[in-house]
Amino acid sequence: MTHSPARVTLHPDFRVGTVDRRLFGSFVEHLGRAVYTGIHEPGHPTADEHGFRRDVADLTHELGVSMLRYPGGNFVSNYRWEDGVGPVEDRKPFLDLAWRTVEPNLVGTDEFLQWAEREGIEPMMAVNLGTRGVEAAAALVEYCNGDAGTRWADLRIANGRAEPYGVRLWCLGNEMDGPWQIGHKDAHEYGKLAAEAGKAMKLVDPSIELVVCGSSSMQMDTFGAWEQTVLSYTYDLVDHVSMHAYYEELDGDRASFLGSGTGMDRFIRRVVASADAVGAQRRSDKRITISFDEWNVWYLESRFPGEANLPIQRDAPRIIEDVYSALDAVVVGDLLVTLLNHADRVPVACLAQLVNVIAPIMTEPGGEAWRQPTFHPFATTARLAQGDALDLRVDAPSYATSRHGEVPAVTAAATHDAETGALALFLTNRSDRVVEVELAHAGAIVSVEQGRQMVADHEPAVAGAEHAAKVTQACWSAVDVAHAVNPGTRTTTIRLAPESWTAFEGRLARA
Ligand code: AHR
Repeated sequence: MTHSPARVTLHPDFRVGTVDRRLFGSFVEHLGRAVYTGIHEPGHPTADEHGFRRDVADLTHELGVSMLRYPGGNFVSNYRWEDGVGPVEDRKPFLDLAWRTVEPNLVGTDEFLQWAEREGIEPMMAVNLGTRGVEAAAALVEYCNGDAGTRWADLRIANGRAEPYGVRLWCLGNEMDGPWQIGHKDAHEYGKLAAEAGKAMKLVDPSIELVVCGSSSMQMDTFGAWEQTVLSYTYDLVDHVSMHAYYEELDGDRASFLGSGTGMDRFIRRVVASADAVGAQRRSDKRITISFDEWNVWYLESRFPGEANLPIQRDAPRIIEDVYSALDAVVVGDLLVTLLNHADRVPVACLAQLVNVIAPIMTEPGGEAWRQPTFHPFATTARLAQGDALDLRVDAPSYATSRHGEVPAVTAAATHDAETGALALFLTNRSDRVVEVELAHAGAIVSVEQGRQMVADHEPAVAGAEHAAKVTQACWSAVDVAHAVNPGTRTTTIRLAPESWTAFEGRLARA
């Protein structure tokens, strides 16, 4: 059965903004097996001389990750960074209350930053504004970025690292609006603390960019008011406000789940509106942008028992190792469509997380590393989305959902690299019928050279490398690009499979 057609119009002059490479960030938290037996596993057959797994690093590159947030997440809100530096044999384990796990402190700031540097990945650090404050935050900036001759910079040098790391991006705590956060605060308490900590951090290194905590999700009771209060304290100081959002299929409501990108789109618009309202009140020309530093599919309500119900564990326990399906991968692709369409206001984003914990990459201790189905849309988008995001007009049929109201059945994003002429077009068909899309390219000659699509199935997700490979083989494939091109009207006709996400690569030249 075919749905009524959709029309996507692009014009090379209509652009949203340049796609910042930091949009393809990810996240490594001291949680479960993200660090230990994830990125780091001395004794693994592929481990390098520093104990980091080569197979995971290679997949991280294939995924196209530009930036990594560290060390949390909820973890950071009770972390003493000083316990994770210096000779490893002198470091003491501590009980991380966020995930009720004994943290051995074998990997800390230096190990992580040096690994990221060797791999050519930009780090994004977070400071603890839960149990700690201004002094520890400023000291960490000095430890990472300071020149010789002061206490914390000299400690870094004594620990074997002469050159400052030059960490540019810094999160002022994590999800401080959440009652689950260790050291949770109300908006006034947090806003004041973030302003003082940020001020001190920028006095240590004025070149850093600061991210202030926004809401942990749009469902928080304090959403909106939180952003406005926190920004009323920090507007002139910070560069970005954070957003976090996780999506899942609940009660078999596939239609709502497929519409998650619309939920994300509304969330972004509302945070932008809140930030701009604070700016307008201050008569400020400064524009706060968004660091969407946690986003993904996560079966949080349906599969996770909650942090407080976890037993105290040690030795890198398996926590929230969600297994993903092709349907999840279609949704991840569609969330990327949303992010690209907000390229002007969202320069930074992190797929949460990188490995083992709600992740596109999985590992077995001592064994192999593999790609979950969600790996493919992320890797493809990170590779193809170059240059500017184009401001498309999408006219599509819509359908009703219980969670997001009316959502479009087809979504689209496109990028164009003016230097190389490369065009990338990303399309999601959320409906359960084939949709024919008429791509109208006024003012441009467009050619579509190849495409790949992820088609959702109805199979339950099963853990393990073998199943992930089977799903990929069945659901991730090349698409026929012999489209009907009508030169007279400058249109190209594309047929989208039901519940699919497709990426096309081609070229665009001005007509
Ligand atoms: O990514 C997992 C957790 O989700 C993070 O620690 C926290 O910030 C969020 O609630």
